[in-house]
Amino acid sequence: MTTDEITDLLTEAYIDELETVMNYLTNAIVLDGVHAEEVKASLEEDVQEELGHAQMLGERLKQLDESPPGSEAFEANQHSLQPPEDTTDVQSVIEGVLEAEDDAMETYRALHKAASDANDPVTEDVAVTILADEEAHHTEFRGFHKEFPQN
Ligand SMILES: [Fe+2]
Repeated sequence: MTTDEITDLLTEAYIDELETVMNYLTNAIVLDGVHAEEVKASLEEDVQEELGHAQMLGERLKQLDESPPGSEAFEANQHSLQPPEDTTDVQSVIEGVLEAEDDAMETYRALHKAASDANDPVTEDVAVTILADEEAHHTEFRGFHKEFPQN
């Protein structure tokens, strides 16, 4: 059985994924320097994955007889993922990614719990599938964070 909490979390996650797509796409384009290439390549790949997450969330909303939102519902939150003024400041982007992935993991854990409480195993499965991807991204960027020189 679905609840408002579930559809609210699905909607919030859908918007967050699309904001992530925009910021990863932008940072994959703007970063400069020898330290940037690996991070740019990783962000470029993640853009496709995050878009896939938005699609899964939107499809689940449709199955629950709700519509995913259009852009008028959009509210920006990812302040730490804005393209850095110094385009060689790879570290600030890495930190922004870690923060965004932390937020995403928290949302998917909340979605999993709400779905579990409501006996909605299909939404639980969506939450676990996406959570696993976000944890993998987080691990990759934690590795970048260790490797890259501090500014
Ligand atoms: Fe995602």
